[in-house]
Amino acid sequence: MPINLEDIRSLFPILHQEVNGKPLVYLDNAATTQKPQAVLDALSNYYELDNSNIHRGAHTLADRATRYYEKTRTLIKEYINAKEEAEIIFTKGTTESINLVAATFGRKFITKGDEILISTMEHHANIVPWQMLCEEKEAILKIIPINDSGEILMEEFDKLLNENTKLVSIVHVSNALGTINPVKEIIQKAHRFGAKVLLDGAQSTSHLDVNVQDLDCDFLAFSAHKLFGPTGLGILYGKRNILESMPPYQGGGEMIKEVTFAKTTYNDIPFKFEAGTPNIADVIAFQKALEFINDLGKSDIKKQEDDLLSYATDLLGEIKGFIPIGTAKDKVSVISFNLNGMHPFDVGMMLDANGIAVRTGHHCTQPLMQRFGIEGTVRASFSVYNTKSEIDVLVAAVAKIAKIKNK
Ligand code: ALA
Repeated sequence: MPINLEDIRSLFPILHQEVNGKPLVYLDNAATTQKPQAVLDALSNYYELDNSNIHRGAHTLADRATRYYEKTRTLIKEYINAKEEAEIIFTKGTTESINLVAATFGRKFITKGDEILISTMEHHANIVPWQMLCEEKEAILKIIPINDSGEILMEEFDKLLNENTKLVSIVHVSNALGTINPVKEIIQKAHRFGAKVLLDGAQSTSHLDVNVQDLDCDFLAFSAHKLFGPTGLGILYGKRNILESMPPYQGGGEMIKEVTFAKTTYNDIPFKFEAGTPNIADVIAFQKALEFINDLGKSDIKKQEDDLLSYATDLLGEIKGFIPIGTAKDKVSVISFNLNGMHPFDVGMMLDANGIAVRTGHHCTQPLMQRFGIEGTVRASFSVYNTKSEIDVLVAAVAKIAKIKNK
């Protein structure tokens, strides 16, 4: 069914406001998406009606909260087509999901001389945990280079893979450029050498149909807040046999079967990795975000976003002094750019004065910016609730700003 934009926008209260005297044009969706009313209601309903601790109490509220909480796990399992709920671990974000793998899988299975492959376009969250691990283990971090369009050089990846490669940790969709990486091919090739593959799905899970069984990835890390859900909630998918082979992440309640002062035995997955009282309200509210996406359908969402991307790419490309950064053939609805002679932060401030919200700077991808020889970019990222008239507002504002230096 074609998407009715007015209907969708009416579900997002935050979109209907003025910023600096202009209607808000929210184009910072790669940083975080806005939340539909149903998610906001679910949060307050939980605290008004159901608040209690899960998996512990013998009372009705605790039982209800536990069922709602576990229902989200089931919806996530279906959303990414995992085999079973036990493969879905709740964390506080993509960053923690990746750190969990580094701290458990990494500590146990990475040893001196082993190699970990990442790409030039990784977010700091998929660089620093591996640097820390490699330093501790005397392992080697290798970087897959990219071309000037912001695409992975597959022939260089092939050259880097070898029997010492234990892990390939790769971003599925670049947050800074929007590039969609050929992860299925990367996974197949890595598996031929016995390496495991972690996908950073922070930006892909909102735009693409991410099917973990079809991709055959070993881990997938992503965040609820980029999927119209609350902040402070992340997901780590892992294959059962791998998760079972990993030591726990944190010690505490819930992650144990039995504790004595002599010995502690650990709980089954996923609870082995979920020590302490989790983020119950946000997990429960996330259901409503997933329902919102499922109701619209991923393919219609993608079509709407692709339309916005090509419309904006064409119009912005006509502006004198417009320099696109990241021109991959396969992209999601992200446009990173600079304006000739202008600092990205200044451009961002001028756009904000027009009510337009974009992100500026290095986007937590400093090595990627170094690859392009720039300090940062202006990034406009579109979601399903954005409109062509909002793009027109952006284009008009960018054209006006560009004229300051490019007459
Ligand atoms: N990683 C998020 C972004 O790209 C915060 O903006």
